Amino acid sequence: MPKIVYVATDGSQRVVDAVAGESVMMAATRHGVPGIVAECGGNASCATCHVYVRPESLPLVGEPNDTEEDLLDLAVTERREGSRLGCQIEMTEELDGLTVDIPPVQP
Ligand code: FES
Repeated sequence: MPKIVYVATDGSQRVVDAVAGESVMMAATRHGVPGIVAECGGNASCATCHVYVRPESLPLVGEPNDTEEDLLDLAVTERREGSRLGCQIEMTEELDGLTVDIPPVQP
């Protein structure tokens, strides 16, 4: 089971076991990780699953598609390098240890 590390703005970490094939957002909501709201349930229309992927993981995670790009520009929290929608990152065994920072605010 690939693990995901969610880092809150105060530096505290939650490590959860994800199931390959589920999204970073789904794993967070399934484990009750605070700060991932996921209002639209993963339909790429709310941007309340915004996360910042750590630089070391970016090559494995890949680039956002056009729809995700547009939504990230509308996200409440500032866009940074590594900004992604958690619902659009599918977990694989290769992503074991993926570390993401949670924005300070989601709408
Ligand atoms: S859950 Fe709504 S955009 Fe990801």
